[in-house]
Amino acid sequence: MKYSAAPESMALIGFMGAGKTTVGRLLAARLGWQFQDLDDVIVNREGRSISDIFRDHGERYFRDLENRVLRELATDHKSRLVLALGGGAFVDAANRRVLQEAGFCTVFLDAPVDELFLRCAQPGVIRPLRQDIQKFSDLYKQRRPEYRKCSLHVDTTGKQVAGVAEEIVRALNLLATPGASE
Ligand code: S3P
Repeated sequence: MKYSAAPESMALIGFMGAGKTTVGRLLAARLGWQFQDLDDVIVNREGRSISDIFRDHGERYFRDLENRVLRELATDHKSRLVLALGGGAFVDAANRRVLQEAGFCTVFLDAPVDELFLRCAQPGVIRPLRQDIQKFSDLYKQRRPEYRKCSLHVDTTGKQVAGVAEEIVRALNLLATPGASE
């Protein structure tokens, strides 16, 4: 799908392991836009990791925080922002409304659930909601219909990060954006 009017900001959404942060960083660099990762902003504000927040306060506390920080970022942002969301953020109807009202184009990065599970096995980030494959798959199935309420759906299966970023640039007609490198 091609967009006639290029969006001025976009949010990358999708399940854990979809590549929202890596694709987002590259995309922002490619376009000369700012990049922010919602989870990183939360971690910096709280001064502790997402897994520590879940362990110490539980998921409800994290979701309230996620909601508040997203609202602030969306309201304060000017334009030319690529925002990577945590896997659960777009599932919340209030968060979807915030993004829509702030004019974000929402890009769903998708992949088969077994590939997502493997991608999340990389060392580095501990994800409290990645436990066994069965629970992971059930959550993915439950959330997928919500992710499909996006503006653009991109299948990342077997694709390199640069290829995915390029596909988004073309689909959203962002080649002519000031700052974008050819
Ligand atoms: C979550 C995904 C995580 C993080 C938190 C909850 C989720 O982000 O926000 O652990 O509910 O799917 P990533 O999608 O970047 O792993």
